[in-house]
Amino acid sequence: MKINIAVLVSGGGTNLQALIDSQNSGIIKSGEIKLVISNNPDAFALIRAKNANIDTLVCNKKELGDKFEDSLIKALEKNNIDIIVLAGFMCILSEKFTSHFANRIINVHPSLIPSFCGKGFYGLRVHEAALEYGVKVTGATVHFVNEIPDGGKIIMQKAVYINEDDTPESLQKRVMQEAEWKILPEALEKVCKELN
Ligand code: GAR
Repeated sequence: MKINIAVLVSGGGTNLQALIDSQNSGIIKSGEIKLVISNNPDAFALIRAKNANIDTLVCNKKELGDKFEDSLIKALEKNNIDIIVLAGFMCILSEKFTSHFANRIINVHPSLIPSFCGKGFYGLRVHEAALEYGVKVTGATVHFVNEIPDGGKIIMQKAVYINEDDTPESLQKRVMQEAEWKILPEALEKVCKELN
């Protein structure tokens, strides 16, 4: 039996695309993406999911307010989801949610944790901080999600060298291409395989 996977997104969805491509190429074989949930109704990630014939759902945090996480839980349980992947999901989840799915939520973060992570470090801001600090190596991390933002057990990491002329945008692109799109599918397959 394959592990049922849900992917939570907020924006462009290039990491979701990497997961879809890896499912098609057989890198992900122990699980199957059953559902994509976005908190943003305009996320391009939703179009990527639809193009791949994957069910989609929008859970709008602004509209749902206090009921946001309950709506997520309801949808995930209704679809018998075993593993949740946060792939560019820009909402912090409460302890109530993370403990409900303990060791079943994974996240990709665009730095080598414990550098440039935690509350306020997301998207381009992570790369701006790395360049501002002047580190010469950055990368990406896939980790389990617990109640501490970016604080759960690390599953996989990959380093990326910073170039003299990097901008936050060029660095973001390289970290995605060289690290995130590789380790997210590999880590997801590893977690699904271990659950099987
Ligand atoms: C990715 O770089 C992801 O690592 C980052 O947002 C981007 C989403 O891109 N996530 C975080 O910063 C979470 N803390 P995508 O929508 O194209 O996958």
